[in-house]
Amino acid sequence: MKVLGIETSCDETSCAIVEGRKILGMCVLTQDAHSVFGGVVPEIASRAHLKTLVPVLERALKEAGIGISDIDAIAVTEGPGLPGSLFVGINFAKGLVQALGVPLISVNHVEAHLVSPFLEFEDFDFPYLGLVVSGGHTSLYFAESLGRYKLLARTLDDAAGEVLDKSAKFLRLGYPGGPILDRMAKGVEQIIKFPKVSSNDFSFSGLKTAFINALRRWAGGIPIYEFVSSFQEAVIQQLLRKVEENLEGVSKIAVVGGVARNSRLREVFAKLKVKVYIPSGALCIDNGAMVAFLGSLYLEMGMTSHFDIEPKPTGLLKAKGGI
Ligand code: KG4
Ligand code: ZN
Repeated sequence: MKVLGIETSCDETSCAIVEGRKILGMCVLTQDAHSVFGGVVPEIASRAHLKTLVPVLERALKEAGIGISDIDAIAVTEGPGLPGSLFVGINFAKGLVQALGVPLISVNHVEAHLVSPFLEFEDFDFPYLGLVVSGGHTSLYFAESLGRYKLLARTLDDAAGEVLDKSAKFLRLGYPGGPILDRMAKGVEQIIKFPKVSSNDFSFSGLKTAFINALRRWAGGIPIYEFVSSFQEAVIQQLLRKVEENLEGVSKIAVVGGVARNSRLREVFAKLKVKVYIPSGALCIDNGAMVAFLGSLYLEMGMTSHFDIEPKPTGLLKAKGGI
């Protein structure tokens, strides 16, 4: 079954065609119109999705070497995400479903990230510990089986990517800040000890305050590379600590989402005693392949969606503690 996945939850417009665990074709367009604003502007994002969805789909089909009529089903992100952006993707999917007469499967964006390692690692399977780290999400799940996820920790304030982006913005380094800090911190000594957060969840607001206070103390001549490296390390160590606290009985860990592209995070997590699965960069950021793959799993179980689906901007995967 060739499943088309459509992803428009934030600032990536993506379409991909997946058959089983194989990506036949994929196109991901990261909108660059937001960089001058130092963050994603929702209205610009939805308009850009509207403009680029057709060429993005055409590129993905071309790469797959198929035509639109070869598609057997369509999966689309229903949420969480920006309401307007989700709306554009969902309506695009509905139009195609109506024209092609194929099933529609709406999927949760966080769940799609969680299953993304299946697309690259043949030996990857449930159950596993899944850390979702991106610009919009920071949460740790125990993924027992398809559709059964126990939320172990979530951020009480900012997401990890958001805090990296905000700190880079504060230092006037550019947007998105995560990859900029990653490059700057490579091989650079960490000279500042940022406070550890003691909470059952993730929290980055205290780190942000410590960041600003440390900057003030250094007024005049801050060693910027070392400062950035120390701050990035504090964010990564918080992620690592929470994973280490939840390792009992766990044999596999998946680290997914945009921040999982970070080179220092990859280095640090690789030292864990259990097997760690981190997809390659293209599958860490928002992409249509993870949406198509998750859709194909639900399709196999006969779980398709009604035509009246609507965006679920806050669509949580599961309430804390539940499966
Ligand atoms: O998954 P994603 O594309 O979109 C969301 O769902 O948020 O993640 C985007 C986030 C941004 O905060 C960006 O700064 C961060 O991922 N990011 C990185 C790196 N590449 C992207 N953070 C740290 N190091 C990187 N190399
Ligand atoms: Zn995402």
